Amino acid sequence: MIAPSILSADFSRLGKECEDVISAGGDWIHFDVMDNHYVPNLTIGPLVCSSLKKYGIKAPIDVHLMVKPCDSLIKDFAESGADWITIHPESTEHLDRSLRLIKDCGCKAGISLNPSTSPECLDYIIDIVDMILVMSVNPGFGRQKFIDSSIAKIKAVREKIKRSGRDIRLEVDGGITASNIAMIAAAGADTFVSGSAIFGSPSYSDAIGMMRKSLKA
Ligand code: DX5
Ligand code: ZN
Repeated sequence: MIAPSILSADFSRLGKECEDVISAGGDWIHFDVMDNHYVPNLTIGPLVCSSLKKYGIKAPIDVHLMVKPCDSLIKDFAESGADWITIHPESTEHLDRSLRLIKDCGCKAGISLNPSTSPECLDYIIDIVDMILVMSVNPGFGRQKFIDSSIAKIKAVREKIKRSGRDIRLEVDGGITASNIAMIAAAGADTFVSGSAIFGSPSYSDAIGMMRKSLKA
């Protein structure tokens, strides 16, 4: 799956941008929510999510919550049409409770690991998550460089998923381009978030096409 991150889209015409990037071959809309508290940036909330749904975006909306606390926004995003909701363990006092809240609201639940977060925190919640998101940059901004030590973490997370025997997606977010996507897939990722490499390209379909070509090679 390729999940274009709308953080790098033109916010003045977001509906059209989402429509275009899905027609260009994107699978999901990756929706970055930042609160200027958990991360040093401020973006968009549930109203924008429901607007995109009303506009007619049918692709799954992959909400990446970088907000603290997160529980009330989990409910708001579920009501606004989110399909996937991913949270960071540091953003809630009770991780198990917050993940169960996502499921109770009818969404798929994801947990996101920052570059410095150990994958050990997965051990007691791997039975309830639908996705593990490995951050390959520090959360907060687009256009950052992929942190190479993420590769070892992706491999470790893939091993944990195998051992769990569960169907869990392994998403990677930050600094992904057509040049490194194959290496990230080889480490075990199956879902790729990409903002600037897609929205910064003059042709979204060429950018996504190049990524798919590298994945097939
Ligand atoms: C960063 C966000 C990412 C960001 C990725 O905190 O979670 O989704 O948009 O952007 P690129 O692909 O430009 O690194
Ligand atoms: Zn993200």
